[in-house]
Amino acid sequence: MIRIAIDGPAGSGKSTMAKIIANKLKINYLDSGALYRIIGYYCVKNNIDLEDKKSIKDILPQIKIDLKDHKYFLNDEEISEQIRNAESGNYASMVAKVPEVREKINQILRTMSQEMSTVIDGRDIGTVVIPDAEIKIFLTASVEERAKRRYDELSEKGKKVDYKSILEQIIFRDKADSSRSIAPLKPAEEAIKINTTNMDIEEVTKKIIEIIKEKNYGN
Ligand code: DC
Repeated sequence: MIRIAIDGPAGSGKSTMAKIIANKLKINYLDSGALYRIIGYYCVKNNIDLEDKKSIKDILPQIKIDLKDHKYFLNDEEISEQIRNAESGNYASMVAKVPEVREKINQILRTMSQEMSTVIDGRDIGTVVIPDAEIKIFLTASVEERAKRRYDELSEKGKKVDYKSILEQIIFRDKADSSRSIAPLKPAEEAIKINTTNMDIEEVTKKIIEIIKEKNYGN
């Protein structure tokens, strides 16, 4: 049984890496950001003011989140694609300030990672959600490089995007995620930090696999 926490800021490559590592080790993958995105999405759909913590807290019992075959379901409706745009990231960052939202998500993540070896990516996995994770990785990259990666990713999907506005959104989210009082984005003390600014996906994969082997997990 192994739990691997991969934390880092928006666009640092966490989810790309978490998916690759989960595939290589043939273990489960959980994207914690998707759960925040789902709650943000539901609030906006229901005209909840994202600054109104009480209304967000009150609406939480109406939200049922499920994950099946890497697809995300909100009250039995699949919404994996709808939550992937930049706005959903900003909504997620806003609802992430509400302690009850975090509790709800943390409980889901802990339950899902209890019985199976899992890679989880997020902001506070190594610090708060699974503080006893066997492996903790913290990925960083310069803000310009992260914005470029997001830009390339969205352009490849055929979306019309503007580099400058992506950069601004990443700066906004970095600030919101790092400065919130509850579970802010920060590396766990024992996390291994990897700056991926000048590394490609293969190099980062190699590095993480090395770390896992050094700790005598994986094969
Ligand atoms: O990883 P992501 O871009 O999908 O995350 C969207 C937002 O959700 C992020 O800006 C802050 C919030 N989040 C969080 O607060 N804690 C996590 N473990 C994961 C995401």
